Amino acid sequence: MIYLDSAATTIQKPPAVGCAVLRTMRYASSPGRGGHAFAMRAAETVYAARETAAKLFNVDDPAKVVFTFNATHGLNIAINSLIKDGDTALISGWEHNSVLRPLVANRARLIIAEAGMDREKTLEAFDTALNEKPKLCAVNHVSNVTGFVLPVYEIAEKCKSAGVPLIIDASQSAGAFKLDFTKLGADFIAMPGHKGLYGPQGTGLLLVKNGAEPLLFGGSGSSSALPNMPEELPDRLEAGTHNTAGIAGLAKGMAFVMREGEDNILRRERELAYRAAAGLAAIRRARVYAPDRKDGSGVISLGIEGLSPEEAGQRFSDMGIALRAGLHCSPLAHKTLGTFPEGTVRLSVSAFTNAREIDAFLSAAEDIARTTGRK
Ligand code: ALA
Repeated sequence: MIYLDSAATTIQKPPAVGCAVLRTMRYASSPGRGGHAFAMRAAETVYAARETAAKLFNVDDPAKVVFTFNATHGLNIAINSLIKDGDTALISGWEHNSVLRPLVANRARLIIAEAGMDREKTLEAFDTALNEKPKLCAVNHVSNVTGFVLPVYEIAEKCKSAGVPLIIDASQSAGAFKLDFTKLGADFIAMPGHKGLYGPQGTGLLLVKNGAEPLLFGGSGSSSALPNMPEELPDRLEAGTHNTAGIAGLAKGMAFVMREGEDNILRRERELAYRAAAGLAAIRRARVYAPDRKDGSGVISLGIEGLSPEEAGQRFSDMGIALRAGLHCSPLAHKTLGTFPEGTVRLSVSAFTNAREIDAFLSAAEDIARTTGRK
């Protein structure tokens, strides 16, 4: 099977990731819960991973790195910390349900700064919307549908000037884009461990500037006599036993990203995604949905005339190519793109994808487009 669904989860991982997970399961008990050797080694493992993340994302204090189960978990903590029933929230037109649904659950009034795949117009839309003084601004760094890269550094500057707290959803950017937490000055950056950071599923990171409100309440291994969660980070946001084995794997994934360099990873991924886009453009019944290459990443969407996204996705799957079809949990992004409610077929690559795999995808696409309607 050729795997081109890395925007969902990267399947190929650096070998050290799996080794670390297995090794850690053999020695780690609960970090911060005991002074014996098994608990201490678990605590050291988790702390070392926190330090690695702090270095990768330029966080001044490893305590501001909070381990979560995934990006959705982190985004829920961030949104619930900043918003109350009925408050106004500013978002881009590319947000995933992991931002949209917690906002709707909080009955937020949404302002959508929608400007298609145009970075300049996106900035203008944010400028206008910030005048309404929303309670928070939540921005997807890279669209999981089209790979469009939003100008987050510029949006962060605008939020700072307007005094509006900023949440960045780095689900598709972490590992392929430099994310400088200190320079961005965002209140929260949430990301999964299992995509571009090459960690296992069930891991994620939330970078926290100041305080935050817990989503889960329970044992933290600290201040145990108190009925409330401790004030200090990261304990305030990390109730319950950690996914220590997963975190050990995630640390190896982050070390891989550091060795390769985000710029190199992005260059290779973009090259492959746009090789696919160029090939599709030459296929008569194929359609590509992607920004200009300079504003793109390792994700593109496509359609095959005469087939629904699900049918096309199934045809690719039957030919040994794994893509994701439908709405990609991002109905808002598909509204922005004009592909709602059908959705698209999505192709997404990782640092382990190669040009031969893209060429095999293109021959399958050609075959599917040629034979559609003739079945
Ligand atoms: N959010 C993930 C995706 O885009 C799962 O496929």
